[in-house]
Amino acid sequence: MRYGHFDDANREYVVTRPDTPRPWSNYIGSADYGGVITNNAAGYAFYRSAFQGRLTRFQFNCKPAELPGRYVYVRDNETGEFWSNSWMPVGKPLERFQSRCRHGTGYTIIESNYIGVESRVTCLARPGDLFEIWRIDITNTGNGRRKLSVFPYVEPQCNWSAEDDNQNLQYNQYIVTTRHQDGILDIGSNINMPADEGNFTNKDQARHTFLALSGAIATGYDSDRAQFFGPYGSYACPRAVASGRCTNSTTEGDMPCGAFQVDLSLDPGESASFAVVFGVGDMDAARAARASVDTIGKLDDAIQSVREYWQSRLTAFQASTPDAAFDSMVNMWSAYNMLMTYYLSRIASLVYAGERDGLGYRDSLQDLAGSCSLVPEETRARLELLLTGQFANGGCKPVVQPFNHQPGAENEPEHFRSDDGMWLFCAVPEYVRETGDVGFFSKLLPFADKGEATVLGHLRRAIEFNLERSGKHGLPCGLHADWNDCLRLGEEGESVLVALQLRYAIREYSRIADLLDYGEEMDWASQKLRILDARIEQHAWDGEWYLRAYRFDGQKFGSRDCAEGKIFMNPQTWAILSGHAGTGRGLQLIGALDQHLDTEFGMKICDPPYVATDPEVCLSRLFNPGMKENGGIFNHTQGWGIMAAAKLGLGDRAYASLKKVLPSSYNDRAELREVEPYVVCQSTHSEYSPRFGSGRVSWLSGSAVWNYVAMTRSILGIQADYDGLVIDPCIPSDWPGFTAKRRFRGAQYHIEVQNPEGICKGHVSLVVDGREIQGNRIPPAPAGAVVGVAAVMTSAVPAYQRT
Ligand code: NOJ
Repeated sequence: MRYGHFDDANREYVVTRPDTPRPWSNYIGSADYGGVITNNAAGYAFYRSAFQGRLTRFQFNCKPAELPGRYVYVRDNETGEFWSNSWMPVGKPLERFQSRCRHGTGYTIIESNYIGVESRVTCLARPGDLFEIWRIDITNTGNGRRKLSVFPYVEPQCNWSAEDDNQNLQYNQYIVTTRHQDGILDIGSNINMPADEGNFTNKDQARHTFLALSGAIATGYDSDRAQFFGPYGSYACPRAVASGRCTNSTTEGDMPCGAFQVDLSLDPGESASFAVVFGVGDMDAARAARASVDTIGKLDDAIQSVREYWQSRLTAFQASTPDAAFDSMVNMWSAYNMLMTYYLSRIASLVYAGERDGLGYRDSLQDLAGSCSLVPEETRARLELLLTGQFANGGCKPVVQPFNHQPGAENEPEHFRSDDGMWLFCAVPEYVRETGDVGFFSKLLPFADKGEATVLGHLRRAIEFNLERSGKHGLPCGLHADWNDCLRLGEEGESVLVALQLRYAIREYSRIADLLDYGEEMDWASQKLRILDARIEQHAWDGEWYLRAYRFDGQKFGSRDCAEGKIFMNPQTWAILSGHAGTGRGLQLIGALDQHLDTEFGMKICDPPYVATDPEVCLSRLFNPGMKENGGIFNHTQGWGIMAAAKLGLGDRAYASLKKVLPSSYNDRAELREVEPYVVCQSTHSEYSPRFGSGRVSWLSGSAVWNYVAMTRSILGIQADYDGLVIDPCIPSDWPGFTAKRRFRGAQYHIEVQNPEGICKGHVSLVVDGREIQGNRIPPAPAGAVVGVAAVMTSAVPAYQRT
């Protein structure tokens, strides 16, 4: 069943049935001022942190129909009937309530038509602003004059601490003061306390949010929640809306709200347009926000600027392939999903309630592997921040809080994780390949605790950290955790995944040393690689596949001898990606993955799931079998599988794996996947679950970046390298070719790839601006240049390579 479609021309997903299996969400704004909004206008706003800067209330675990949100109610004052612009929360019968939601880049438009009244609410926040805008358009589409009231409603928190607002009611019901003046509602917390703006985490300071009307005069307002709803009212039936009258309430203490009443009298065909603004600050901030959108022209400009903000980022890579569903994802949704994940890490969604308050080290570094191709300058700042989250011993801070981080003065965590620093090797080299800024490797940056090193020095410390912490088999210790949060290896246990990551890291390091002409460093790296390779071969190969890990007591994970968790996906894909497994063994591994882990919805993280193993050994058992780390289809890892298949030249296979996990593949079966068909989700239930095929935890996931990387770099094969742009596609054999536009170091490359022989991967001959060049590497063109590239894939070895 489908609930909507991709509108590629407008870069929107259009939800045409509001009764989606679960709320389908989008984002407005940025990480400074941002918001989550669903296709039924549920959601919340936050400032800098969804935990310590939560501006509006959200109940993450309540039923979808009861979620707080940005609601605009409409009431027919002649009949007393009322509804909401979004289908929910009032929930009029769908036979008579037409609605459409357009989730776009940084904005969401919800339109509805009910009993001859069309309403359209556009929610957005311009990056840079600390407020959001709701443009409200109401049109009388009937034959007679209509007398209507419109009630925009939002529910600010008592203070900005999500935890406090939710739990500390003996305290927070005494701290709110609201005021109304001149069409502005001021919602104050602790207003008699001093402001402490430099100290973001001080929840007890004086703070204000506002809701203001722009372009209309309110006939009423409410800022005391109990007055707007009545003591037992609900979102579906607020007393003020049902009775047609706001009470002009303010409140000292108890629960605040922000609501206006705007009365309209519309002739047939007549429309009224106005806006509300909600955001951070006092009455003056509200006046400035209101003035910035007080004409239709300014409102049009606001949405245009948000579209352009995203457009300028997303158009850095655009492709046209034989697969429209692939294009919808790669050109818009995968890129947008990946960037949103990069901006927000895992701080705010319908699932992440802000409890991960900051940038998770491993997750955020992985996000950079993709962001640097679209927003290289922004990526650099984030990369530098994360590099300064590394301690002088090479270990890393599990979470870096941008608003609190003090390089040089951070305390070491109680425990280090073994994989954190390894992700630097997916981010730093990629940034330099993208920008050509080789000098970055020499930039001095402080460690989190003491001392400083060049970026290259930071990379070396990361490698040394794991080399210095090797276990009984000479493989890197698992420490507090490796990538998998559930394996309980013990500090002295050993991780094969990290061993393979370490191999990848040493190879990357060696390439950089080569680039910089640091012979001694290259020697150091190749010596370490030799030793590591031998240890991996001796202790990590299980005969048919690679082990996952050793526990400190020698117990194996991911061995054919294990009763549960016999085989894990990650060591197999990383063996190929790191180069430990060459083509022959790589193909054997792909066979093992197919045989033991593949499903019609993607590849399981491990098999069989854990049900009897001591939870002290493997905590995955806390999840039901077939879910998440316990034998679920963990989507974070799927991109690595696709990349590994492509590395072996298996284009049909890589593409088939991608299609299984591409959200757009499920647009016509949305009832199965349940979550949004336009963004990734963390995990899909495998066949061990009764809900095989259902996705959970959408939007912010490592799958966003790795799917994007797999599509752009591995399948389409357009990859930045230190000395140019490499064209090395690995595509389905039935694709006759594709075209792509790629921004690279300020120049535009218009690439046409032809596949006349119907192969998956081959030699690529290049004609660049009409001139044949040798190899598949385009030297960087000057910034501003537009470069035409004709690439032909062939199975024949080109003459210059023949011996
Ligand atoms: C989700 C976490 O965000 C990520 O850091 C971790 O690697 C995976 N779970 C796997 O456990």
